[in-house]
Amino acid sequence: MVIFKIMAPAREEIRKELLRLRQEIEKHNRHYYVLDDPLISDAEYDHLFRRLVELEKKYDLVSPDSPTQRVGAPPLEKFATVRHTLPMLSLNNANNQEEMEEFEERIRRFLKSSQPIEYVVEPKIDGVAVELVYDQGRFVVGSTRGDGINGEDITLNLKTIRSIPLTLHRESKRFPQRLEVRGEVFLSRTAFQRLNREREEEGQPVFANPRNAAAGSLKQLDSTITAKRPLDIFCHGMGEGTGASFTTHEQFLHALKEWGLKPVSHIRICHSLKEIFAYHQEMEGRRDQLPYEIDGLVIKVNSLELQRRLGEIARSPRWAAAYKFKPRQATTRIIDIQAQVGRTGTLTPVASLEPVPVGGVTVKSASLHNMDEVERKDIRVGDTVVVERAGDVIPYVVQVVEEKRSGREKKFAMPERCPVCGSAVYREEGEVAYRCVGLSCPAKLKESLKFFGSRGAMDIEGLGEKLIDQLVDRGLVKDLADLYSLKKEKLAGLERMAEKSAQNLLDALGRSKEASLARFLNALGIRHVGEATAKLLADHFGDLSNIKGASEEKLTEVREIGPEVAKSIARFFAQKENRKVIEKLLKAGIRLQTEPKRKGRLAGSTFVLTGALEGMSRSEAQQRIEILGGRVASSVSRSTTYVVVGSDPGSKLKRAKDLEIPILEEREFLKLIGA
Ligand code: IVH
Repeated sequence: MVIFKIMAPAREEIRKELLRLRQEIEKHNRHYYVLDDPLISDAEYDHLFRRLVELEKKYDLVSPDSPTQRVGAPPLEKFATVRHTLPMLSLNNANNQEEMEEFEERIRRFLKSSQPIEYVVEPKIDGVAVELVYDQGRFVVGSTRGDGINGEDITLNLKTIRSIPLTLHRESKRFPQRLEVRGEVFLSRTAFQRLNREREEEGQPVFANPRNAAAGSLKQLDSTITAKRPLDIFCHGMGEGTGASFTTHEQFLHALKEWGLKPVSHIRICHSLKEIFAYHQEMEGRRDQLPYEIDGLVIKVNSLELQRRLGEIARSPRWAAAYKFKPRQATTRIIDIQAQVGRTGTLTPVASLEPVPVGGVTVKSASLHNMDEVERKDIRVGDTVVVERAGDVIPYVVQVVEEKRSGREKKFAMPERCPVCGSAVYREEGEVAYRCVGLSCPAKLKESLKFFGSRGAMDIEGLGEKLIDQLVDRGLVKDLADLYSLKKEKLAGLERMAEKSAQNLLDALGRSKEASLARFLNALGIRHVGEATAKLLADHFGDLSNIKGASEEKLTEVREIGPEVAKSIARFFAQKENRKVIEKLLKAGIRLQTEPKRKGRLAGSTFVLTGALEGMSRSEAQQRIEILGGRVASSVSRSTTYVVVGSDPGSKLKRAKDLEIPILEEREFLKLIGA
């Protein structure tokens, strides 16, 4: 009894702290994942998160809407069925200007009006349609579209998506008692490529495109698998919303943001078809620069009153249309299929194609990914095939046009020996991938060198593919470190190299010795370690010897590093050959700096980037700034020197204005960096 009296208030205190921690963490999630405007460092975030995990575990106070529950839950037997309160409709397509004219004409006829109509134009996200249900501000159920009437309950999977708030932002505009939000779950192109690269290396079947990868990730009965895929969402519509009062769709999109949800971006209000056509053209030209796939625009009548009057016909609203972009598929013929050897020794079948234009780019080859794909799609040399290009992703073969077969097509078989070094090729049991066993296979070395010298890695200007071929083929370079003992005379004797270019390369190699630890780690090409993970490692451990000596367990202490990545890092550093090459690199004079040395025109300047730039990707802009000695920070503070503003800037712009930080538009920025 006495004990109870002492314990009770303490437990109440704990509950309060838990609540406060959860709100605090969700707030930081919102700033990081939705507003793209973090308020605290990763380390501070980790500290909060760990404290929450510790308390929940110690006092057994886990709750379903806790941010700790985003890591996935025990696997389900099967998904339950969810009936949508209002059916999830589909859209009528308009494939060209005439069909858009017909769309508007239908609206006018129906409304018996010739008044101008105001439209909201949104990108059509190429992802998976979902519905999120919030009850009193809590995320309670999430489902797939299914047949539009009934969907599958994928709540646990959706909870792993950080840009889906588990509770709506309470301080803001009142939200409806029950809110049903529709949106599109997607995987960014870089996340997709990375996922496929990993799957290829692990010998698992690859996903054909980011949409399939997103769909596959959402269909997992084991949500811990979904949790490992960096899915994201754009919200664009409402199901039921008891108590919501908007007059326009645009207002609804703004409200989403205030509630902590992530509305679709790059929206534009248009008042005529002419404006819509212009925006369509603009976005079609920019689609490759967006980090995710879009396959057209969605045109929606802005007024909700008009939407209500227009209603729907045959399961599609009259007030909206999908105005598609030109398809990025084409038909061509496979001239040959050859195996290419990658950095990890994986043999990838690649088809040489009769050149064909696809969405403005001439495609000459396509990856067939692996033998299982070749067999599943029954792809043969001589086949006529449909190829698709998705953004900057390598083109792939969608299917064979069987009617075009002449009977003379030839099946492809993986070579038994590596086409480059002649070593045996093996396929591990249960794996899809064929690998070359050659320890010093030149093809592997060439790929490693290419990656080592690339921009996000050691950034060695002049170390191109042709040069690498010569260096390896002539035995001048047998491992990464040999690059640093190259002599000018030897270099100058190579094809397309003169004294000047040889000197330039040596200078670039010299400069690369000043690389930051993060760049160096990335450059080593450790499986699962890309630019972002390399940065996390560098920030966390501070120097190379700490990373080299870290156990798997120690490695998982780094935010966002899971057991699989930790294992891969530990395994890499445990390999004798790898340690030897690293020693040799350090002996050659590589000085790893935790922060890159700041010299150059922009030394001392801190930039913050917001919105999309037309002319370059964010990472390119960052690199250009860093090359000139500047720094890029993720949030605006008093110490920010410039804020660079692209289209659709986030809240950083407002903050910059509040703090009176100089704002650069893209044109001014390009001028400053001399681009
Ligand atoms: S509105 C009734 N807006 O496209 C209107 N849909 O082909 C419903 N989609 O099932 C959709 N981006 O999953 C809307 N900005 C956007 C969209 C979008 C992608 C998907 C949606 C829908 C499909 C229709």
